Amino acid sequence: MHVLLASSEVTPYSKTGGLADVCSALPKALVRLGCKASIVTPFYKCVREYFEQTGEPLEDLYGVTLSAPVGRETKQAAVRKANLDGVDVYFIVHNDYFERDGLYNYRGVDHGDNCERFCFFSRCVLELIKRLNLDVDVVHANDWQTGLVPVYLDAVYKSRSRFDVTSDFGSVVRPSYDHDPGDAEIFDKIKSVLTIHNLRHQGRFWRGAMDITGLDWSYFTYDKMEFYGQLNLLKSGIVFSDAITTVSPRYAEEIQTEEFGEKLQGVLQLRAQSLRGILNGVDRDEWNPATDPMIAANYDVDTVDEGKPKCKDALQRALNLNPDPNVPLLGVVSRFDVQKGLDLIADVAAELVETQGVQFAILGSGDEELGRRFHLLSKRFPQSFAVRNEFSIALSHQIEAGSDMFLMPSRYEPCGLNQMYSLIYGTLPVVHDVGGLHDSVVNGSDENIASGVGNGFVFYWESADDMRQALAWALYCYRCRKDDWKKMMRAAMRKDHSWDVSARKYVELYEDLLKR
Ligand code: ADP
Ligand code: GLC
Repeated sequence: MHVLLASSEVTPYSKTGGLADVCSALPKALVRLGCKASIVTPFYKCVREYFEQTGEPLEDLYGVTLSAPVGRETKQAAVRKANLDGVDVYFIVHNDYFERDGLYNYRGVDHGDNCERFCFFSRCVLELIKRLNLDVDVVHANDWQTGLVPVYLDAVYKSRSRFDVTSDFGSVVRPSYDHDPGDAEIFDKIKSVLTIHNLRHQGRFWRGAMDITGLDWSYFTYDKMEFYGQLNLLKSGIVFSDAITTVSPRYAEEIQTEEFGEKLQGVLQLRAQSLRGILNGVDRDEWNPATDPMIAANYDVDTVDEGKPKCKDALQRALNLNPDPNVPLLGVVSRFDVQKGLDLIADVAAELVETQGVQFAILGSGDEELGRRFHLLSKRFPQSFAVRNEFSIALSHQIEAGSDMFLMPSRYEPCGLNQMYSLIYGTLPVVHDVGGLHDSVVNGSDENIASGVGNGFVFYWESADDMRQALAWALYCYRCRKDDWKKMMRAAMRKDHSWDVSARKYVELYEDLLKR
């Protein structure tokens, strides 16, 4: 089985969030399970820089040019190829679209041609299959940027569409394209999967952008690509793909409700039979305290008591915090975005520092107002509150290893990777009970600690008060129930978060589809 995964970001080449981590770890895990897996992704400026800096091999596929219509024009892309632990990675090269700063925006302003860029990219995914004659069984799209991959596959490349209807005269009514009959052999067998990593980001554009897609306006209806008068690329993908997944079982349920459905709950309910939630895993090559080269001391479940204090001390010194081993240190690594609920931390931080003597180590960037609030706190409590407003992979590992607890008060969280990294590093997460946080963190109640399953602290209402209460209990356990704390650390570190478990569930899904 050959799975081609299409994504707008892939670690280590380009990354704004967890999407990138998943889109490199999943195909690698598929290869370990005996599948063939390839990736297709844009060749951004940062990707070029990555290869220049690392000197890793990158092949130019000379003579391979992909042509794809964008509105009335036809644009062309070149293709480069690399290999990531047994996974072929194809880069779509188009300087006007991708050789610039920022994957989707620059200094907080979205690139004005995002619709064009990702329609073009999505079309190139299918052209790549055709041009290189890749024997693909499943094309796996991710988020709105590749939402049109299942649409083009169905509407342009297959000989029959899932929406073909027979007219009164018995013929198939379908908008006419320059359909190449030779395509059928390559494309008719291909199944499409769309994974939703974040329902809030939908790729919504002015209706006139329908012309850019090159698709017929008959597709601009409420049951296909239209959404409250706009073009919606994620919705289009949801409607056209053979299966839809999201990144945790709980989020798969949540997105069918008004509270979390972002106005797409109706279409998701309609497709409920084809929707499933598969919890992300963790790339254990990248995140493993026993081998991590970025942390001060390596440790595993048997040596955590010696290793972790060294990491904590190094982190406190690196951030100019008071290097006191007994002070509870709370870590955060996150985009500063309303999704992440970090305003709750800003609300309670001063009180926690003053009354409980805790320290904070915060890494992230995004919302400027939140950044300012954190900055003021760091001025007020220089030895207890540290914030770094940057993107630093090394510091993110050091915070995971050096903190005692990790805070994720997310309003919603499709999966969340950082709470799983925390568990692996024996750093107990304090989380809001949503999405993937619900599916991965077991509250440290007395019963759960006693039965050996408690591995963190959970609060159930999105409020500063509830978070404060959960933290009060966590701090009490940290200070007064040291044996229980160690038991929870071990429960956290022992749980299997590897991708192999999750990748197996994807393989089952692909196999189900191919049987149909
Ligand atoms: P999301 O994708 O919604 O941002 P996830 O928890 O799934 O949330 O993944 C976030 C990923 O991005 C993690 O790998 C995290 O370590 C990383 N990350 C977020 N902000 C930063 C930052 N400022 N520096 C380094 N890594 C970061
Ligand atoms: C999104 C979600 C996050 C998830 C990640 C990877 O960015 O916000 O919860 O872990 O995608 O699937």
